[in-house]
Amino acid sequence: NIMKIDIVSVFPEYFEVLNLSLLGKAQEKGLVEVTAHNLRDWTHDVHHSVDDTPVGGGAGMVMKPEVWSECLDELLHLEPTTVTCDSTADADDTASADTAEPAESATEIAANADTVPATDRPVLIFPNPSAPLFTQQDATELSHANHLLFGCGRYEGYDARIPQYYRAQGVDVREYSIGDYVLNGGEVAVSVMLEAITRLLPGFMGNAASIVEESYTGENALLEHRQYTKPADWRGIKVPDVLLSGDHAKVDRFRRDEALAKTNELRPDLIEALDCSKLDKADRKT
Ligand code: ADE
Repeated sequence: NIMKIDIVSVFPEYFEVLNLSLLGKAQEKGLVEVTAHNLRDWTHDVHHSVDDTPVGGGAGMVMKPEVWSECLDELLHLEPTTVTCDSTADADDTASADTAEPAESATEIAANADTVPATDRPVLIFPNPSAPLFTQQDATELSHANHLLFGCGRYEGYDARIPQYYRAQGVDVREYSIGDYVLNGGEVAVSVMLEAITRLLPGFMGNAASIVEESYTGENALLEHRQYTKPADWRGIKVPDVLLSGDHAKVDRFRRDEALAKTNELRPDLIEALDCSKLDKADRKT
């Protein structure tokens, strides 16, 4: 079951590095098929322009909807149509213009993420610094999709009607930020999301257990405990004794305590989000 990935960008060469590294191997193994497209291939003017000045004024340029729609219609096999909807109705990122249902809250979506079955519906993803944060939950959910289509925005962004229109066509459209900082364009953000998603594909990683144990994974998303290898004494710094004891229960308890303490110190927000019913007595002490 091969995952098809299309990326649209004005710098498609940026994604040539994907042929190296692990993702290159995944393509050779037939797990994924990645194609980077040049957005300018869908322009008709001599200058191949993809952007225009913002309506309402302001600095910078905004990516034009017409070029994106010609490209996305072709890649999604959709016929162009006209939709009647209020441009203010789609202000919520998670709202879908095609349904009258209230928007699902971010926590509801997160709670459902692992239960969403694989679908044949393509998922259209736009990186956007003004969108909900991309999390391990999103990566897990998207790793079950058969077709991902990433649209890289450049300059000061893209016309807001692009995601709105495709939602109205019934397309599963997502907008994600990869962190609270601003990049020049979506290319780096797409690379980050792509790596987080594709490494979860069955057969991608040599050691599947290393995925199960890592940070942000599973029902109790804690930061991972510290890791050590040999020698047990290096430049005067000793590996904690308990790790050499051979007592697996003790080792597990030590690591769990450390993960809890470390998370509490560095990411109290993750402790707040923990499901208390999943904590045991020993957890509560730490
Ligand atoms: N484009 C620019 N900055 C971004 C960010 N932080 N996340 C996703 N897309 C972006």
